[in-house]
Amino acid sequence: MTFLIANWKMNPQTTREARVLFEEIIDVGRLKNIETVICPPFPFLSIFGSPKSIRLGSQDIFWEAQGPYTGQVSGKMLKDLGCDYVILGHSERRQYAGESDEIINAKLKMALKCGLAPILCIGERAGEEMGEVLAAQLNGCLKDISKTEIQDIIFVYEPVWAISSGIVGTGKPCLPDDALSAGLFMKKIITGLYGRFLAEKTAIIYGGSVDSKNAASFIREARMQGVLVGGASLDAEEFSKIADSLNNLT
Ligand code: PGA
Repeated sequence: MTFLIANWKMNPQTTREARVLFEEIIDVGRLKNIETVICPPFPFLSIFGSPKSIRLGSQDIFWEAQGPYTGQVSGKMLKDLGCDYVILGHSERRQYAGESDEIINAKLKMALKCGLAPILCIGERAGEEMGEVLAAQLNGCLKDISKTEIQDIIFVYEPVWAISSGIVGTGKPCLPDDALSAGLFMKKIITGLYGRFLAEKTAIIYGGSVDSKNAASFIREARMQGVLVGGASLDAEEFSKIADSLNNLT
């Protein structure tokens, strides 16, 4: 199974535009062997009906189940809206919402408890040492996560410097060889925490400036099990091309 995950971030701006974009990409979900997940902003989660071929994911969750937490959204609400996935640990939430590994760990536990599969992003910023950052983030985010739970997590290697938009990205593409090294390193850390058998079964995907020209190389050359797409997921034609390029590999 290859994952194609769209992170719409804080786009588009109206319900009408979100509906149009969704209608334009709905056919992508019909490709066999590809699990297509769309992660729109919260307000749009309920406007697509119950799509059969495309799965829904949210871009955040709160770590408490319910109660006096102004502005927060619970896992149960997300499940009720039809979500199966939730993005966690994204560098933009670390940057703008001050999320630490401890907070991400608490959210990860709540997501798993609610039956939402976490899409856990980790990656180094420009100038940071890849191995050091990945080891620290994995150890911190996975604290007290069991051997059963680990199997539901999709790990994303997303070097922050390779993200196409935003102020933290450099726009410099990550080469498949570098993504391969990072993926192998992540498997090594996960092996240390959970053993070789589970580590080998773990899904690791790549994120950061993915487009229709490079998407397949991350599967073929970097041995990733899918891609997380930001900017290019807002362009229906480009997103469909990415899906086709992945589908041609299977
Ligand atoms: P990008 O974003 O594809 O626009 O680089 C990816 C992400 O931040 O998830």
